[in-house]
Amino acid sequence: MRALIAYVSVHHGNTEKVAKAIAEVLGAEMRKAWEVRPEELLSYDLLGFGSGIYYWKHHRALFKLLDSLPNVEGKKAFIFSTAGINVPFINHRKLRKALKEKGFEIVGEFSCRGWDTNGWLEKIGGLNKGHPDERDLERARKFAEGLKKILER
Ligand SMILES: Cc1cc2nc3c(=O)[nH]c(=O)nc-3n(C[C@H](O)[C@H](O)[C@H](O)COP(=O)(O)O)c2cc1C
Repeated sequence: MRALIAYVSVHHGNTEKVAKAIAEVLGAEMRKAWEVRPEELLSYDLLGFGSGIYYWKHHRALFKLLDSLPNVEGKKAFIFSTAGINVPFINHRKLRKALKEKGFEIVGEFSCRGWDTNGWLEKIGGLNKGHPDERDLERARKFAEGLKKILER
Protein backbone atom coordinates (compact mmCIF):
# COMPACT_ATOMS: atom_id res chain seq x y z
CA MET A 1 0.00 0.00 0.00
CA ARG A 2 1.30 3.44 -0.94
CA ALA A 3 0.26 6.33 1.27
CA LEU A 4 0.91 10.05 1.08
CA ILE A 5 0.29 12.66 3.75
CA ALA A 6 -0.28 16.23 2.57
CA TYR A 7 -0.08 18.64 5.47
CA VAL A 8 0.41 22.22 6.63
CA SER A 9 1.95 23.13 9.97
CA VAL A 10 2.75 26.83 10.15
CA HIS A 11 2.13 27.89 13.77
CA HIS A 12 4.36 25.77 16.04
CA GLY A 13 4.97 22.62 13.99
CA ASN A 14 2.30 20.86 16.06
CA THR A 15 0.61 19.09 13.18
CA GLU A 16 3.92 18.05 11.68
CA LYS A 17 4.60 16.00 14.83
CA VAL A 18 1.30 14.19 14.39
CA ALA A 19 1.91 13.72 10.66
CA LYS A 20 5.29 12.10 11.43
CA ALA A 21 3.81 9.75 14.02
CA ILE A 22 1.13 8.59 11.57
CA ALA A 23 3.57 8.40 8.63
CA GLU A 24 5.96 6.16 10.58
CA VAL A 25 3.25 3.59 11.24
CA LEU A 26 1.85 3.68 7.70
CA GLY A 27 5.20 3.90 5.97
CA ALA A 28 3.74 6.97 4.28
CA GLU A 29 5.48 9.78 2.47
CA MET A 30 4.96 13.27 3.88
CA ARG A 31 4.69 16.41 1.81
CA LYS A 32 3.72 20.02 2.47
CA ALA A 33 0.38 20.67 0.74
CA TRP A 34 1.90 23.20 -1.65
CA GLU A 35 4.61 20.73 -2.70
CA VAL A 36 2.15 18.11 -3.94
CA ARG A 37 1.48 17.88 -7.66
CA PRO A 38 -2.17 16.90 -8.22
CA GLU A 39 -1.36 14.26 -10.83
CA GLU A 40 1.08 12.37 -8.55
CA LEU A 41 -1.47 12.28 -5.77
CA LEU A 42 -3.69 9.99 -7.79
CA SER A 43 -1.12 7.19 -7.80
CA TYR A 44 -1.39 6.60 -4.02
CA ASP A 45 -3.79 4.11 -2.38
CA LEU A 46 -4.35 6.24 0.70
CA LEU A 47 -4.13 9.99 1.21
CA GLY A 48 -3.94 11.88 4.48
CA PHE A 49 -4.86 15.56 4.71
CA GLY A 50 -4.03 17.52 7.84
CA SER A 51 -3.13 20.89 9.30
CA GLY A 52 -3.63 23.10 12.30
CA ILE A 53 -7.06 24.66 12.55
CA TYR A 54 -7.01 28.31 11.58
CA TYR A 55 -10.27 30.17 12.14
CA TRP A 56 -12.34 27.01 12.44
CA LYS A 57 -11.02 25.21 9.40
CA HIS A 58 -7.97 23.54 7.89
CA HIS A 59 -5.31 25.58 6.10
CA ARG A 60 -6.39 27.02 2.74
CA ALA A 61 -3.49 25.26 0.95
CA LEU A 62 -5.29 21.93 1.47
CA PHE A 63 -8.44 23.29 -0.15
CA LYS A 64 -6.40 24.69 -3.02
CA LEU A 65 -4.86 21.27 -3.56
CA LEU A 66 -8.29 19.63 -3.58
CA ASP A 67 -9.60 22.23 -6.02
CA SER A 68 -6.91 21.21 -8.48
CA LEU A 69 -7.95 17.54 -8.48
CA PRO A 70 -10.38 15.78 -10.78
CA ASN A 71 -13.05 13.54 -9.24
CA VAL A 72 -11.23 10.63 -7.57
CA GLU A 73 -14.07 8.05 -7.35
CA GLY A 74 -13.79 6.29 -4.02
CA LYS A 75 -10.11 6.90 -3.29
CA LYS A 76 -9.44 6.43 0.42
CA ALA A 77 -8.50 9.42 2.56
CA PHE A 78 -8.17 10.42 6.19
CA ILE A 79 -8.27 13.78 7.94
CA PHE A 80 -6.23 14.97 10.89
CA SER A 81 -5.68 18.19 12.78
CA THR A 82 -4.32 19.88 15.87
CA ALA A 83 -6.20 22.79 17.39
CA GLY A 84 -6.39 25.16 20.32
CA ILE A 85 -9.93 23.95 20.93
CA ASN A 86 -10.15 20.36 19.83
CA VAL A 87 -13.67 19.94 18.43
CA PRO A 88 -13.17 17.87 15.26
CA PHE A 89 -16.89 17.64 14.58
CA ILE A 90 -16.78 21.39 13.84
CA ASN A 91 -13.14 21.88 12.84
CA HIS A 92 -13.14 19.12 10.20
CA ARG A 93 -16.49 20.00 8.71
CA LYS A 94 -15.28 22.04 5.75
CA LEU A 95 -12.48 19.66 4.72
CA ARG A 96 -14.75 16.65 5.16
CA LYS A 97 -17.27 18.25 2.80
CA ALA A 98 -14.59 19.21 0.23
CA LEU A 99 -13.16 15.66 0.22
CA LYS A 100 -16.57 14.07 -0.21
CA GLU A 101 -17.37 16.42 -3.06
CA LYS A 102 -14.24 15.18 -4.84
CA GLY A 103 -15.36 11.59 -4.43
CA PHE A 104 -13.03 10.55 -1.59
CA GLU A 105 -14.07 7.85 0.85
CA ILE A 106 -13.09 9.11 4.33
CA VAL A 107 -11.75 6.14 6.29
CA GLY A 108 -10.78 7.92 9.50
CA GLU A 109 -10.27 11.18 11.35
CA PHE A 110 -7.80 12.10 14.07
CA SER A 111 -7.36 15.24 16.10
CA CYS A 112 -5.65 16.40 19.24
CA ARG A 113 -4.81 19.59 21.09
CA GLY A 114 -1.99 21.76 19.83
CA TRP A 115 -0.08 24.58 21.49
CA ASP A 116 -1.88 27.78 20.52
CA THR A 117 -0.44 31.26 20.99
CA ASN A 118 -2.65 33.01 18.47
CA GLY A 119 -3.39 36.66 19.32
CA TRP A 120 -3.85 37.50 23.01
CA LEU A 121 -3.24 33.88 24.03
CA GLU A 122 0.46 34.62 23.64
CA LYS A 123 0.28 36.93 26.67
CA ILE A 124 -0.72 34.04 28.91
CA GLY A 125 1.77 31.55 27.46
CA GLY A 126 -0.78 30.08 25.10
CA LEU A 127 -3.25 27.23 25.34
CA ASN A 128 -2.19 23.57 25.52
CA LYS A 129 1.49 24.21 26.08
CA GLY A 130 3.44 21.02 25.43
CA HIS A 131 0.83 19.53 23.08
CA PRO A 132 0.90 17.40 21.12
CA ASP A 133 2.66 15.45 23.86
CA GLU A 134 3.77 11.82 23.93
CA ARG A 135 0.26 10.61 24.83
CA ASP A 136 -1.24 12.50 21.90
CA LEU A 137 1.37 10.99 19.59
CA GLU A 138 0.68 7.52 20.95
CA ARG A 139 -3.00 8.03 20.14
CA ALA A 140 -1.99 9.13 16.64
CA ARG A 141 0.05 5.93 16.20
CA LYS A 142 -2.93 3.82 17.37
CA PHE A 143 -5.14 5.67 14.90
CA ALA A 144 -2.68 4.79 12.12
CA GLU A 145 -2.65 1.12 13.22
CA GLY A 146 -6.44 1.19 12.89
CA LEU A 147 -6.18 2.61 9.39
CA LYS A 148 -3.82 -0.17 8.39
CA LYS A 149 -6.34 -2.76 9.56
CA ILE A 150 -9.15 -1.10 7.62
CA LEU A 151 -7.05 -1.11 4.47
CA GLU A 152 -6.04 -4.75 4.85
CA ARG A 153 -9.69 -5.87 4.88
C1 LIG B 1 -4.02 32.45 12.88
C2 LIG B 1 -4.46 31.31 13.78
C3 LIG B 1 -5.82 31.00 13.89
C4 LIG B 1 -6.22 29.94 14.73
N1 LIG B 1 -7.55 29.63 14.79
C5 LIG B 1 -7.95 28.59 15.57
C6 LIG B 1 -9.34 28.22 15.62
O1 LIG B 1 -10.20 28.80 14.97
N2 LIG B 1 -9.69 27.17 16.42
C7 LIG B 1 -8.76 26.48 17.17
O2 LIG B 1 -9.12 25.56 17.88
N3 LIG B 1 -7.44 26.81 17.13
C8 LIG B 1 -7.02 27.84 16.34
N4 LIG B 1 -5.68 28.14 16.27
C9 LIG B 1 -4.72 27.31 16.99
C10 LIG B 1 -4.10 26.24 16.09
O3 LIG B 1 -5.07 25.46 15.47
C11 LIG B 1 -3.18 25.33 16.90
O4 LIG B 1 -2.20 26.07 17.56
C12 LIG B 1 -2.56 24.26 16.00
O5 LIG B 1 -2.00 23.26 16.81
C13 LIG B 1 -1.51 24.85 15.09
O6 LIG B 1 -0.91 23.83 14.34
P1 LIG B 1 0.51 23.99 13.63
O7 LIG B 1 1.53 24.29 14.70
O8 LIG B 1 0.70 22.67 13.00
O9 LIG B 1 0.35 25.10 12.63
C14 LIG B 1 -5.25 29.20 15.47
C15 LIG B 1 -3.89 29.55 15.36
C16 LIG B 1 -3.49 30.59 14.53
C17 LIG B 1 -2.03 30.93 14.41
